[in-house]
Amino acid sequence: MLAALQNARPETAIVLGSGLGAVAEAFGIECEVPYDQVPGLSASTVPGHAGRFVLGRQNGKPILLAQGRRHLYEGLTAHEVTASIRFMHEIGVRRVVLTNAAGAIHDSFHVGGLMLITDHLNLQGTTPLLGGPHFHDMSEVYSLTLRERLLVAAREQHLTLHQGVYAALLGPQYETPAEIRMLRTLGADAVGMSTVPEAIQARALGMEVAGISMLTNWAAGLKAQTLHHAEVVEVGKAASADLAKLLKAAL
Ligand code: HPA
Repeated sequence: MLAALQNARPETAIVLGSGLGAVAEAFGIECEVPYDQVPGLSASTVPGHAGRFVLGRQNGKPILLAQGRRHLYEGLTAHEVTASIRFMHEIGVRRVVLTNAAGAIHDSFHVGGLMLITDHLNLQGTTPLLGGPHFHDMSEVYSLTLRERLLVAAREQHLTLHQGVYAALLGPQYETPAEIRMLRTLGADAVGMSTVPEAIQARALGMEVAGISMLTNWAAGLKAQTLHHAEVVEVGKAASADLAKLLKAAL
């Protein structure tokens, strides 16, 4: 089954975050490979993350979908959580769309909406590039070309696509209200616990990167609420159809 993925030679991959796994169905499922069948990869320990590659197709072109990802907060290194990106690169993937569930910080956003990641704040205290390559340029992690393509697709599909800076924290706990005020001051528009190591690794390999956050909740302290992972997954699931529509129109 792994050979089927390799032989299809997909050039585009999509990583699906918490509660967003169902997006794969929109691309048709030609074959599935659990991560633990891929050397160097293992299944996620987080509910809402399936842990498999799916081969789908859009306009006749193969698309590799990663349903679920590994996180630093599972106790892994940044090198380990980015093994899937190196695997994708090895089999010929040149373009990756990283999706995640995130807390909304910017006032003009809405819960259940999508945010195109324009840039990130790496507040996780680590990087997959420890040990090298050193001094990689990160001035355009999220490809302007891909961003424009996604914005055009959103307009065509009559979908609101917010834009902003994604701040990645280690987790696994959600933030305090004071931390969210700090993040807002630092220029963050949304907050999450993933994506950034993968984006850094993919850029360092010369891949084209796009990032989309599903805004599953208001960040801590912005509304009278407490945060629950099950709710994050539920909102993600409910809004998956919009994300699928956007991705299908853009690719
Ligand atoms: N904070 C961090 N990670 C998240 C959030 C949040 O509010 N929502 C979904 N993932």
